[in-house]
Amino acid sequence: MILKDGVFYREYNEYTFICDTQLNLAHTIPAPVALLLDLFKDDITESEATERLKKSYPEVSVDVIKKDVHDFVEFLISKGMIENTISLNTPNGDTLTKNSFFHEYTFENELLYSAMLEITYCCPQRCKHCCQSYMRTEKDYCRKELSYEEIKTLIDELFKLNVLELVITGGEPFARRDCFDILEYAKEKGFATTVFSNGILLSDDDIKRIANLRLKCFSTSLYSHIPQKHDEITGISGSYEKTLNVLNTLSKYGICTEIKFVLMEENKNDFSGVANIAKKTGSALQLIPGLNPSCFDDWRIDKINIKDDMALKKAVADYMDFSGYHPNYEKTDFSKICEAGRNSLSIDPYGDVKPCISLPYILGNVKSDTVESIWQKGRKLRKWKNYTKSKLKDCKNCEYMNFCDFCPGVALNYTKSMFKKYDAACRLAKIKYSLT
Ligand SMILES: C[S@@+](CC[C@H](N)C(=O)[O-])C[C@H]1O[C@@H](n2cnc3c(N)ncnc32)[C@H](O)[C@@H]1O
Repeated sequence: MILKDGVFYREYNEYTFICDTQLNLAHTIPAPVALLLDLFKDDITESEATERLKKSYPEVSVDVIKKDVHDFVEFLISKGMIENTISLNTPNGDTLTKNSFFHEYTFENELLYSAMLEITYCCPQRCKHCCQSYMRTEKDYCRKELSYEEIKTLIDELFKLNVLELVITGGEPFARRDCFDILEYAKEKGFATTVFSNGILLSDDDIKRIANLRLKCFSTSLYSHIPQKHDEITGISGSYEKTLNVLNTLSKYGICTEIKFVLMEENKNDFSGVANIAKKTGSALQLIPGLNPSCFDDWRIDKINIKDDMALKKAVADYMDFSGYHPNYEKTDFSKICEAGRNSLSIDPYGDVKPCISLPYILGNVKSDTVESIWQKGRKLRKWKNYTKSKLKDCKNCEYMNFCDFCPGVALNYTKSMFKKYDAACRLAKIKYSLT
């Protein structure tokens, strides 16, 4: 008996979180059972597993161990997580891509659960709304990206820190020749990995290789259902066709895919067209309803950003219909300023660690500090975690507060302060309120 390829797990205090990336299911077991799962990484029988456990726990009776192993194997079979076994019933669990228990538990308990690695800022696309590849400062261009060996060491560190989820992004991650090596190493270490990629550098063989990585998700960006419009936004003719080919092929292989749609004035009526593509390819869909103006001048952001309130409202309503996602406003925890840095960290191509990709709030650098020291002892991180929404003087009495997706990183870019309100958030909150 051996665990199926694509089953990843970690223990968090009294819980074990298990992801099955092939079935897109997540299970939470209220017991520390990673040791048992480790045993079934080898192809062994129940009695061999019992013998091995007896060696680790000589004080426990063999009958007790035998029964525990048997019950656990039954559980794994019922969830379809053992190779070549068919569960008697259809395996159930939470949908992995939507699972919120892992997220909420680690958020509440401040356990490092996920990390985002921007492995390069190089990108073959020149998206009109994106600053990543072409607005770097001269200082950035002189900095050396983390090498493959440094990224391996970083992944080892994140494994030791119990991180279960990795997001590999860029720039375009596949612009790095060693991107596959990085992804294969992450798989070997048992990470549930999501890749953000436009896919345009991938050959058919590369797409097959991706299918074998058992990713949690391949998340791409589509800016219109009209090929020419998408290509105008990315600045690359033929990019629509390439991205769509990756989506179609991966979904044929049964790999989880996601489409991100960034709403702008130029594509303001195209969300429903892209939602149809998501339905056809079985992809998850994310609406990014406004831009983060990280490197734009005011005039430029005004030109690109969505101005039409009716179109914004329609896209948000269509998104709610598509996803069935109607935010549970009462549950929103407004005591914390944002989620960044509580159960997740972000690391840029040069090794700078930030609470989140959108915040230029550097907590340390992996070339000179360990991630563990940044996470455990980082004074700056503690300070960040202690910020609360009550600091938002502009917002604390706002009637739309529970509908607001205020983001300190976006606030900083619009207002030069992480704590000041900005029009885009207020406008979206009012629109969401009007849709309830
Ligand atoms: C920076 S890209 C990196 C991954 C990959 N190259 C891609 O194209 O999907 C990640 C996502 O950020 C989005 N993005 C880029 N600039 C943005 C901005 N100014 N505001 C909001 N989202 C942005 C992109 O559209 C894309 O969906």
